[in-house]
Amino acid sequence: MAAELVHGTTNIVDTDGVFEIVRDRLRRLITEHPSQIPVYTEGGRWHFDSDSWAPVWTGGFLAGMIWAVAQHTNDSWWRDQAEKYTLLLEPHKLDTGTHDLGFLFTPSWGRWHSIDPTRRSRDVLVQAGRTLAGGFNTRGKYLKTGVDGGSTVIDIMMNIDIIYEAADLCEDDELANVATQHALTSRRYLVRGDSSTAHEGWFDAGTGEFLRTATHQGYRADSCWVRGHAWAMYGYGAAYKRARDERFLQTAIECADLYIERTGDALIPPNDWDDPHPEFPYEASAASVAASAMLQLAEILGPEGAVYVSYGSRILAKLCTPEFLTTPGDGWEGLIKRATYHRGNGLGVQESTMWGDYYFVEALERYRRLGSGGVG
Ligand code: GLY
Repeated sequence: MAAELVHGTTNIVDTDGVFEIVRDRLRRLITEHPSQIPVYTEGGRWHFDSDSWAPVWTGGFLAGMIWAVAQHTNDSWWRDQAEKYTLLLEPHKLDTGTHDLGFLFTPSWGRWHSIDPTRRSRDVLVQAGRTLAGGFNTRGKYLKTGVDGGSTVIDIMMNIDIIYEAADLCEDDELANVATQHALTSRRYLVRGDSSTAHEGWFDAGTGEFLRTATHQGYRADSCWVRGHAWAMYGYGAAYKRARDERFLQTAIECADLYIERTGDALIPPNDWDDPHPEFPYEASAASVAASAMLQLAEILGPEGAVYVSYGSRILAKLCTPEFLTTPGDGWEGLIKRATYHRGNGLGVQESTMWGDYYFVEALERYRRLGSGGVG
């Protein structure tokens, strides 16, 4: 591990000050555009037209940020908003056309249930988990994407927690096994020997035979799209917390170590590490996910995870500089700038995104919980 890269001097984050900016941006979004759920900004302003490439997958991030503010402020107005935006998502519990049910339900209904469990929240989470598990290909032992029955993507590692949650709530080991089998298949075909990750895997959906890797948002099939890599780092850490399978922890650690090695003191990665001529130096939403993933790893590892507290805090501190974090009065509606959703399709290029903002807020919460007044 590149120990010299993890000891920074600028990793102190003013969480109260940043939460104030979060509150301000969210209040404007939900009062000026009630019940609307954006995906990314255009010129810094939230764009509300439906995203034809991957429709309706970001509502959980908005609800989750509102829950974070409600918990931070203990204010009933925020609590009412959090419930309102969470309830909006309920119909998706039966949506078989998306692999993003974890993104939709874990930050929203999952947070609500962890604060205030009810029969209703339990039933919603169980249904969402069962619906996602319905996309399991028993021959290839993978969860299919909404794109095709033969494809899976590394992003699904972020979604399987809803299956584990459902399995826990209804004590169904078979259901948990679907999540575990998917994680093992992704580990086998999408996590490479050098710990880099492929974005997509294609199978013969009939026989389950693995065919090839591919990418949608990365440079090419054999490169490493960094947001996908951050999804893996986070997803394997979360899967370890559920299944306690040491292989998942090892994969999360190896993905984190590669992130540190390849990103170094820049802290914020480009869109793809293997693109020889990146158009932009940064893809900041990958950094938000990586910061939360590193701090999650630190929570799991305890004193052994000091290196991840330090590096995760350094990422967070860099995201809090005006280069990345919106500043009061700059006219920008999102929180974290310089993120890219999908360069090839021209969607949200060097803008704010709902997930870049959400995982930034989640990383702030973890940082506070870890009591990190600048570890490192
Ligand atoms: N669909 C998930 C992502 O763009 O990262």
